[in-house]
Amino acid sequence: MTSAADRTFRALSRRRFLALGGGLAATATLGACTSDSSPAPTRIGPASAKVAAAEQARKKVGASTVDVTLTALPADVDLGGVRVSTWAFDGRIPGKEIRAKRGDLVRVQVHNALPQETSLHWHGLALRNDMDGVPGLTQDAVKPGGSYKYEFTVPDAGTYWFHPHVGVQLDRGLYAPLIVDDPSEPGDYDQEVVIVLDDWLDGTGQTPDAVYQNLLQNGMGGMADMASMPKSALLGGDAGDVTYPHFLANGRVGNQPQTVVGKAGQRVRLRLINAGADTAFRVGVPGVTMTITHTDGFPVTARAADAVLLGMGERVDVVVELPSATTALLALPEGKVGFAQVVFKVGSGSSPDVSTLMADFLRRPVVMGTALAATEQVLLPAKNPDVTHELVLEGPTGKYTWTMNGKTYNPAEGLVVREGQRARLRFVNKTQMFHPMHLHGHTFQVRGQAGGGPRKDTAVVLPRQTLEVDFDADNPGQWLAHCHNVYHGEAGMMTVVSYVE
Ligand code: C2O
Ligand code: CU
Repeated sequence: MTSAADRTFRALSRRRFLALGGGLAATATLGACTSDSSPAPTRIGPASAKVAAAEQARKKVGASTVDVTLTALPADVDLGGVRVSTWAFDGRIPGKEIRAKRGDLVRVQVHNALPQETSLHWHGLALRNDMDGVPGLTQDAVKPGGSYKYEFTVPDAGTYWFHPHVGVQLDRGLYAPLIVDDPSEPGDYDQEVVIVLDDWLDGTGQTPDAVYQNLLQNGMGGMADMASMPKSALLGGDAGDVTYPHFLANGRVGNQPQTVVGKAGQRVRLRLINAGADTAFRVGVPGVTMTITHTDGFPVTARAADAVLLGMGERVDVVVELPSATTALLALPEGKVGFAQVVFKVGSGSSPDVSTLMADFLRRPVVMGTALAATEQVLLPAKNPDVTHELVLEGPTGKYTWTMNGKTYNPAEGLVVREGQRARLRFVNKTQMFHPMHLHGHTFQVRGQAGGGPRKDTAVVLPRQTLEVDFDADNPGQWLAHCHNVYHGEAGMMTVVSYVE
């Protein structure tokens, strides 16, 4: 397979590579390849034998295959009295969940019936690099009218999701859960509900593409004047760049929610996914203490919480015990106006009044994903990093440009790592806004104060704060590291973690 993307890597010259600040620094710290006659490092591209070998090592004997076909298409969708023309997988929002077991082979045939190129990215999975779904880096985009087959082993259990990695398509209805079960997990709950949260504007007289163009042309003032920009004390500054008329839980607007029927005392596992493009959600079941059990698919030391914050791309699994009266899960767009909810109907009680629930809920302490702690079983063994890359997050100044280390995205440049290294990313947020920073193909460990932070793939970095994350470079390829605010990513806040040999 010689895609255009792969040729790019082969064409990468020594001169080009030496121009990469990060690459040079990383090589120098290793004390390797410093003499002029030594061969230049080469990028391990998606078609490399190393990528195939890593996939081979993931395969399990007796694994089953999960076969899925889906079509990304323009569709009219009812969000609960709000009808919109949008883009969705098979006309559903969220798209149909994909369910697999750890070690399974997932095979997805996607047809592109959209008027734009597209791709599918499997958010959070440590999968084979050539199936990661990033056009220009790991594959060629799927053309309108075209098809593509994704096929990969799912190595870890947990709550994941997928979405296109083209433009601002994520801010349409193109997203769905991918849940990987662990057959050996005890599963101490009676019922499971997957809840996908989203900020919605497509088909309400706006499209994400038009919103993005407006931001580019008019900067942050494009949507509103600066003084009316959403702010949040919890987020330590700006809460978003875009104003949304609706917020959704499982494709339903706040006042026409999904209803889940349960019994008092039942234990319900909630798998929460923030598929929003520009909105963090404060989530909880007012009056009920949640037990947080996982974040980004990986287990954490059980933590009781009234409310939890999910940045864009983040997932949190919680267990709640249903009370004796009908109640609701609230998802409040942090710093913005509106709400989404899922009603838990217990007995014959009528739905609770949302504003009453909200008043108390907003006074409760909120747990951030980065404050959780990995369980012993998934802690990375303590080790000093072999390579550290600093990523300074800046923007926007005048123009709507968000940068990392002063640069916007360039797939030919990258932060160099070598297989077998312990790598550290140091995110330095110099902006007034939070950034949910996401790394493809790996689950890093957040460096908490005491060391053992949570294993995550998406972590909120607050304004004027620095966050360090460590990962083992054990999945060769070219992997994006970017802000999961889709408008920030598009406007440049995206780079490549680049394995070389
Ligand atoms: Cu949710 Cu680059 O991904
Ligand atoms: Cu950002």
